[in-house]
Order: sequence, then C-alpha cells, then structure tokens
Amino acid sequence: MNRQPILLPCMILYYSPGKKPFLAGPPEENKPTIREITDDEARILTLCQGEITLTDIAAKLNMDQTQVKSTSDKFSKEPDLFLQFIEDTEKHPSPTPHMEIAMEILSERDSAHEFIDNTGLLHEYHTGQITDAIEQFESHETTISHVYQQPHPALRGLSYGARLAEKFCEMEIMEKCTNILEIGGGTGFVARDFLGYLHQNQSIVFQNLYYVLLELSPVLLEGQKEYTRMYSNTIAQVLGDALAPPFIAGKFSLIIANEMIADLPSVFVKKEWMNRNTGHEIPAEAIPALKYINDFDVTVKDAFPEFLVNLGAWQLLEHIHLLLTPGGFALITEYGSPWRYPVAVHLPDHTEYAIHFGHLEEIAIRIGFDVRLEKMADFFDMDLDVTTLERMSLTILNQSLLSHLSQDPLPILAFTPEMLKQALGDLYPHIYNLRFSSLKQAGSQGSPSVFHALILRKKP
Ligand SMILES: C[S@@+](CC[C@H](N)C(=O)[O-])C[C@H]1O[C@@H](n2cnc3c(N)ncnc32)[C@H](O)[C@@H]1O
Repeated sequence: MNRQPILLPCMILYYSPGKKPFLAGPPEENKPTIREITDDEARILTLCQGEITLTDIAAKLNMDQTQVKSTSDKFSKEPDLFLQFIEDTEKHPSPTPHMEIAMEILSERDSAHEFIDNTGLLHEYHTGQITDAIEQFESHETTISHVYQQPHPALRGLSYGARLAEKFCEMEIMEKCTNILEIGGGTGFVARDFLGYLHQNQSIVFQNLYYVLLELSPVLLEGQKEYTRMYSNTIAQVLGDALAPPFIAGKFSLIIANEMIADLPSVFVKKEWMNRNTGHEIPAEAIPALKYINDFDVTVKDAFPEFLVNLGAWQLLEHIHLLLTPGGFALITEYGSPWRYPVAVHLPDHTEYAIHFGHLEEIAIRIGFDVRLEKMADFFDMDLDVTTLERMSLTILNQSLLSHLSQDPLPILAFTPEMLKQALGDLYPHIYNLRFSSLKQAGSQGSPSVFHALILRKKP
C-alpha cells in the first residue's frame, strides 16, 4: 500500500459526479476506445498521478484500503495494465541516446531498401487526391504553421504567419521587398496572417506588396483564394508546379517554401553508380542526382552503400536562385537533420522523406547563395518553455473521449493548458490525465524539435 500508482498517458479519465465515468484510450480503426468504470474506481483513478501512495489515496477518499488495493490490482494487471507504479517505471529506463541514434541511422538504410520511386505518385497525389483544404491539415498532414494558426505564447503572442512577417521586419528585409512568392501555401493561413501583420504594422510596406501563391493542388488553391480573400488586391494564386515555375527570372525579392520540400521527389542512389566506369545500368531518375553529387561535390562519403537524396529539393534551390532578384531572400523550412539521410515518413495517404539539410546547404552555397541553417525554434525565437498538450492526449481526447460524448472534435492546435481550458469550457475540470509537455519534447503538439530553417540570400 505504500506504492504510488500512476495512470498511463494512453488513458484519459472522464469523471463528472452524477454521470457515467469512463476511461478513453487510443482509437482503434478510427473507432473510440472506451472502458466504462464505477464511480468509486473513477474517484480512485483521479488521484493516480504518481504522487501519493495507495494508503494516502484511501485516506483522502475516506475509503477502505482493501477497496483501493483491489481497484489498483484490477487496473495494473492483465488484461488492463492501465496503471503502473512510479517505482516500476523508474526500473525501466527509456532507451539510451546511443540506441536512439543507432535506430535512427538504421532507419536511413531501411528507407533506402524499401524505397519506391515516388516522382509520379507525389504529383498525382497533390493534383488529384486532396479533397478538402482544412481536412488535409487536420487529419492527413498537420504542419507546424497549422497548429500555430492562432496567436500563441510560444511565438510572442502571434500566429505563425504573423510571426514570420515580424521576423522578416526584424531582419530588415521587408522595406526592400515588393514581390513575394510563397510556394505550396496549404490552407493559405500563413499568407493571410503574414499580410495581416504587415497591413496592421507596416502599412507602407504593405501598400507596395504583391504576394503570389504557387500551388500544385487545385483544391488547396481554391482554399487559399477563400482564406486570403480580404487581401485580394495584393495577392494572386497560381496553379503550377514548383519544379516548373511559370514565372520570369528575377521576379521575386522574397520566396517562402514553408514545410513543402519533403513533398518533392526523392531518389534512390547506389554508391557504385558514382564510379562511371563500372558500366552499371543506372535508372533514369537517379542520373540527375548523380550529376549534382558530382558537379556540386556533395558529401556522400558517410552514406550507406544504398541511400536516398532529396533531388526535388535540390532542383528547387536552382529555381529559387533563378526567380530571385540579386540580393533577394528565401526561407525554406522543413523537418529533417543537418546530417541524416532522408528517411520515410508515412502519412495516412502518402509517404514523404525527411530532408538532409547538410546536402541542401552545400548545394545552395555552390549555386551562389549566402546560406544560414538554423533550428526552426531559433529562427522564430520560439519560447520552448511553453507547454502544450501532447499529441497522444489530443488524439484520445478528440477521437475517443469527445466522440463518445457526441461532442465535436477540437481543432488540431498547439493547446496550452489555458487554451484547452477555454476550448473545453465546463468539460475541462472533468477530464483527468491529459498530458502536457514543454515544446522541447518531441511529443508535444507544435514541438519544432526536428524542424530547420534554411535562410538563403542570392548574392548581389
Ligand atoms: C505539407 S503542405 C505545407 C503547407 C503550408 N505551407 C503549411 O506550412 O502548412 C505542402 C504544400 O505544398 C504543396 N505542394 C506540394 N508539391 C508541390 C509542387 N511540386 N509545387 C507546388 N506546390 C506543391 C502542397 O499542395 C501543399 O500546399
């Protein structure tokens, strides 16, 4: 009885006196997972937060110790296993950093082995399979800018698009900026808030601006038109492919590609293909990648014998260079690493590949950019001490708990405790075991931990 029980993070408790209490777990096959429990069990579980012992719980609830013990036995043993004890969790430390790094590196090799040429697939996906703009980013590919679509304490009280505009003002590049291109604008929220910030805070800059959205998906393009309608005199939406941009050279003073380069094709390469005298049959799609590696002296010494490269992102750098005015800036953000090779990220309906930013940096320098690679959090000066609801908690809350109560799901945002309290209203005090963690932790919604920002300036 002197052990301290803790309800696992995969279980959220609903307890409102007078209503049927239940535990909600991760949804299975899109159906809520619900386990109804008794009132007394719920009262005990509300106190299972790893802070007090079973004896203390019995005393606090004025309950018989054997009742508390039998509830704790019930939920901590097969088949339930919802409860653990703090003492046991400490006996099973999480994987060491070495193991994590080893597993990450092996996933590079596995991604190369399992790779299927995705050039046509990605194009077809974007042109034909996206059916609803909001749904796309709520359910299929939730981007960082999407979860920060509302003013947020991690971004100095601004939304993502507004903070982006503020950051460019701080970098003193907006005064000289007239034509802006945003490639792959998703919902259009970034453009809307970017222009909104300038409209409010930099009216002279705003008056001289022309903002173009280039988008491959016709459905997203329509969404962008709708969500940026209030700035229709300043903005234009163009349907087209980033890898064949329909613009003249030197047209833009600023280009933004926000979380879109992982959508561009990657290719499979074998080290043995790099030796031209071997006479190997080289697939056509790998030839341009080999040419980059050779012509731009891209470092691949540290690659496995078979590896992937972000060819589409490399090609985009050349287009950006051509489209920028001399001295113009570009910002590319995406998930990835400065040294890791592309790994597959399996989304519900398409597969993307994380970015090797070290390669991108090398190629950008050789093309003729001044280059700065930063962690996204540093670029935006994000406050990483802010805590937000963990992704797993938000999924269980939406898909199991709220669904069981026949309530609408919450939007997918980086909810701070205050934001969640406001969104859930009277329900909030009756929901237990929601997990929040700081934005430094990868599991918190809105954590930028794997995201980078590549800042490019075309040499004058
Ligand atoms: C992951 S979403 C990011 C959307 C938005 N920038 C954000 O941060 O939420 C990728 C965007 O790029 C677009 N896209 C993908 N491939 C493209 C291409 N080849 N040319 C232009 N847009 C493309 C997608 O349709 C989508 O709008």
